[in-house]
Amino acid sequence: KIYPVILSGGSGTRLWPLSRAVLPKQLLPLVSDRTMLQETALRLHDRQHIQAPLVVCGNDHRFLAAEQMREIGIEPLGILLEPVGRNTAPAVAAAAHYLRAIDPAAVMLVLPADHVINNVDAFNAAINHAAAMVEQGALATFGIVPTGPETGYGYIRSGAAAAAPHCYTVDSFVEKPDRATAQSFVEAGNYYWNSGMFLFRADVYLAELQKFAPAIAEATATAVGKDYRDLDFCRLDEASFTACPSDSIDYAVMEHTKHAIVVPADIGWSDVGSWSALWEVQQQDGHGNATRGDVYLDDVSGSLVRAESRIVAVIGVKDLVVVETNDAVLVAHKDQVQRVKNVVDHLKTKQ
Ligand code: GDD
Ligand code: MG
Repeated sequence: KIYPVILSGGSGTRLWPLSRAVLPKQLLPLVSDRTMLQETALRLHDRQHIQAPLVVCGNDHRFLAAEQMREIGIEPLGILLEPVGRNTAPAVAAAAHYLRAIDPAAVMLVLPADHVINNVDAFNAAINHAAAMVEQGALATFGIVPTGPETGYGYIRSGAAAAAPHCYTVDSFVEKPDRATAQSFVEAGNYYWNSGMFLFRADVYLAELQKFAPAIAEATATAVGKDYRDLDFCRLDEASFTACPSDSIDYAVMEHTKHAIVVPADIGWSDVGSWSALWEVQQQDGHGNATRGDVYLDDVSGSLVRAESRIVAVIGVKDLVVVETNDAVLVAHKDQVQRVKNVVDHLKTKQ
């Protein structure tokens, strides 16, 4: 049985001013009329072997997450609440402990709540390709053909064909290389981007974690063990989870494990990490503009224009990002939107 584990943490600072700590991008309707969390939960909902999802989110977001699941009529297996963010290795570990207690043979499908996948059938096929090897103890990654030397992704160097069709061994996994290294990976050709989605058995993940980051495996075991369940939520114990080291699954496990495989996945994937990434996945008009809300455009092309609370008029420009909210406005060149996170850093220093 495959249990989706939906990671709904993080605050998406590069999508400021829409994405905020109180209402981060995964809880917003960014690409469609449904929120990213809802899209993620619905994506594989009706597929065979796929169980109800386990949502992992910050304590502050519990009511929003629960309400959004109710709205789409999906009853989650549980909503695990983190008292503080400790990055993905602990979040996945807590989910693994929780699932293993319910089903010792549980297979987890780790899904970030803020990704877009346009070809769901292809994704479902990739999951099925990985399933047999995962049962045997492999940790499966889904590899995306790189389109450029992005430094914000993990790179997977694929090796020989593995035991199952469409699966390859992983020669190495390099999380967030510098620009020059990323460039050499793209030129070499046998590298994929790590999509940040994983398929593995809960017990296998915990065994690997115990090997490479025992403090995380142990702290999260205590945090889940002490959970008390109220009506809708499962709270992780505050003291032990807060004491857990913070690390990503990529650095803590994937860079070290010998049991990784990669399934190349041509699935129309985007992690919608920035305004330009959102512009790419959104529906565009004949001039390459992606708009939302009450906007007026005259002689505008290649732009993303978003009005939340007022009319926004844009005239005679190209390749701009204009995002209006009721207390902040962003105007940026579409090629410079990576710098939006500096605005958030700046605002934090002013608080
Ligand atoms: N519940 C929970 N708790 N979720 C979290 C936490 C946490 O503490 N931290 C991050 N997440 C969620 C984020 O919301 C996001 O959906 C996902 O986990 C991945 O975290 P990011 O912080 O966005 O990771 P990244 O983008 O730097 O890198 C990862 O994703 C890339 C692809 O988008 C890595 O897996 C890379 O290797 C990968 O290429
Ligand atoms: Mg990300």
